[in-house]
Amino acid sequence: MLALASDHGGFELKQAVKEYLDKNGFTYEDFGCFNGEACDYPDMAKLACDAVVDGRCDKALLFCGTGIGISMAANKVKGIRAAACSDWFSAKFTRAHNDANALCLGGRVVGPGLAIEMVDVFLHTEFEGGDRHTRRVAKVMALED
Ligand code: RB5
Repeated sequence: MLALASDHGGFELKQAVKEYLDKNGFTYEDFGCFNGEACDYPDMAKLACDAVVDGRCDKALLFCGTGIGISMAANKVKGIRAAACSDWFSAKFTRAHNDANALCLGGRVVGPGLAIEMVDVFLHTEFEGGDRHTRRVAKVMALED
């Protein structure tokens, strides 16, 4: 189960990604927003990230205008490793090396075609593990304490 959330700036891109998820058999809960009216991305980020941290969802897909504001909010939620990405390589390696559990995309930055490729590779890439990456991710998480 995936947790989706956006503000108004990411709403249309979230809708396009939902079509991809529907066609490819992914289940998700959309924590809002539910239309293009202006709203505050930290509110939506919190709802989706709480669902990841408490185990209701495996990963979050988050959307705002740039992908940056919602990633900043997401990374304040303990247990979240959110990556704002605008290229395929970063979307892949933030899973492989950072074990990211939230992908943040900008509706005013990337088009739906690229966004869907990024979501696809993010969802199909496992954390590489191994000493180096495991140690580094643990050090990142220790910064929360
Ligand atoms: C909203 O206008 C915009 O600031 C927001 O979607 C996002 O880009 C913030 O980082």
